[in-house]
Amino acid sequence: MSDLIKKESKKDETAADHGNCMLNRRQFLMYSGSAAIAASTISISLLPGEANAKARVVTYPRKLIAKLSELKENQPLDFNYPDDGKNSQCFVVKMDGAKAGGGVGKQRDVVAFSYLCTHQGGPMNGKYQAVGEHRVLGQCPLHLSTYDLTRHGIIVSGQAYQSIPQVLLEVDGDDVYAVGMMGLLYGRNENLMES
Ligand code: FES
Repeated sequence: MSDLIKKESKKDETAADHGNCMLNRRQFLMYSGSAAIAASTISISLLPGEANAKARVVTYPRKLIAKLSELKENQPLDFNYPDDGKNSQCFVVKMDGAKAGGGVGKQRDVVAFSYLCTHQGGPMNGKYQAVGEHRVLGQCPLHLSTYDLTRHGIIVSGQAYQSIPQVLLEVDGDDVYAVGMMGLLYGRNENLMES
């Protein structure tokens, strides 16, 4: 052992003997090395747990909501989606040839939306309007928000700052299915509630 190492060892013993809480340079390097190894071990030991974590996958139901042949021009038909729970009131409407974003059918004029205003949940049942080329939902009875149903339910006017949630549709022959939803239903943390 070199004289220098002997000297360092002597200093370490002295510090330990005297209960000195101060670390010398050699002790510091030794302990910090151990800490680094411990940290690596922790991060490695977490990996198997992460690999075992189960992903929670939920999907929207495919629900038959209408027959294309039975929809009357500009007359909304009510249904509930994605379940029958709180704030699930929706409607589907054929907008008399007004082509819409997300519209289905030959004229791309069949759309579906939530009835509940995104501002404070004002009910907009009976508030569908067809005026000239415009197809809107509103005005909301609480603070007058109005939504454009040809453009994915964006706000035309009023207090709301989010589009009205649009129900995604699929057509199979004469059947119209609700298969998903764009936007969060008013009053929910997530559209799909645990059953
Ligand atoms: S609740 Fe509809 S605008 Fe306020």
